[in-house]
Amino acid sequence: MKITAIKGMSDLLPPQSTHWERVESKAREIFKTYGFQEIRTPIVEPTELFVRSVGETSAIVEKEMYTFEDRKGTSLTLRPEGTASVVRAYIEAALYYKDPVAKLAYFGPMFRYEQPQKGRSRQFFQIGAELLGVQEPMADAELLIMLEQFFSSLGITDTRLEINSLGCKACRPKYLEAIQKFLKGKLSKFCADCQKRSDRNPLRVLDCKKEECRTLTADAPMINDFWCEACHQHYREVRGLLLAGHVKFKENPRIVRGLDYYCRTAFEILCDRLGSQNAVGAGGRYDGLVKDLGGPDVPGVGFAVGMERLMMLIPDIEERTSDIVFFALLGSEAQQKMLSVMQELRAKGKQVECAYGGSLKSQFRRADKSGAAQVVVVGENEVQKGTAVVKKMSSGEQREVLFGRLVEELTV
Ligand code: HAM
Repeated sequence: MKITAIKGMSDLLPPQSTHWERVESKAREIFKTYGFQEIRTPIVEPTELFVRSVGETSAIVEKEMYTFEDRKGTSLTLRPEGTASVVRAYIEAALYYKDPVAKLAYFGPMFRYEQPQKGRSRQFFQIGAELLGVQEPMADAELLIMLEQFFSSLGITDTRLEINSLGCKACRPKYLEAIQKFLKGKLSKFCADCQKRSDRNPLRVLDCKKEECRTLTADAPMINDFWCEACHQHYREVRGLLLAGHVKFKENPRIVRGLDYYCRTAFEILCDRLGSQNAVGAGGRYDGLVKDLGGPDVPGVGFAVGMERLMMLIPDIEERTSDIVFFALLGSEAQQKMLSVMQELRAKGKQVECAYGGSLKSQFRRADKSGAAQVVVVGENEVQKGTAVVKKMSSGEQREVLFGRLVEELTV
């Protein structure tokens, strides 16, 4: 029987993998100019990490985690997101001793047991960035400016940034009380999920995607009426900095986010072209998280972009003009003579292909398929003369080049 990939998890094949690599390199290049360095954390973590950070009553922890016991009975979970792992590693390595500010970027797979559909899978990739150790609004704004630069470098110009503030430990409890009071009389009209949530995590009711629940919460109290002065001030400053950085945004007091660690700034980047799973990226501030996970009281802010969704937004990638050099070699002597030339070219960074054998005609067919710009032909005659025939594929023009001059001629 044929073995296939698990539902909701897919292979990334060429040429898509090359497009992904290009996008990831772009992120690395841009993030570096803001001082971010890469962090790689394990894909498996103690379950407790996500329960304590993402939140026991979040949808992720309640029903979407891939959790299993290892051979010793320890509960482990495939990471559903990156922030918790980054914070765990930050505390474990005591990075704050070396530098109070840490700028960490990550690239990798996340796992959530969700119902697969367009833009939603069970293994998906994120590009994320976390800025730890800065509580000032400038950090929130800088991350959003960096994201905007990343998106526009990819030719994406139709995303919408929506921002909100979720308040802090001082002001949010009053808001939660108000929401609970609001829900009290009408709870039976909400969906079963919301009814369950209202007690333990009333904010999630505002996040419900069902139309009937959305209508019911249309006139629910909004968090912005409950912000304390410090939260208000923080929000105002973020907004002012975004304006100064020419980042367009919309204020949306309904953004609550599905992860519990957020405080103050929360944002989502949406695009209508994505359909119902319209968030290409999201993030926010999580000032209490490092402390909650056993570290010092260090603030943090970050985002994650979903790679699969991001790739759906990228305009057709123009084929890079190829500079592949293809070697069509006839006979083992020709192969032996050219091997060092091929090695030297590759050492200089050139992509070099060959056919490994076959007739000249079949080798040219392969050269064509590879998209080669130039083909180097060496047969018995050429070996005797010590020259190769170099053919430019675009014009058909041919020239003879001495073996000793090949590397130089092919690298100009
Ligand atoms: P999140 O909103 O859960 O936030 O996910 C971020 C992005 O990952 C989403 O906007 C979406 O593009 C992508 N994504 C999420 N679930 C799926 C899925 N099942 N299939 C495909 N793509 C998906 C976080 O994960 C936070 N850790 C973000 C953050 C970083 N906050 C602070 N720092």
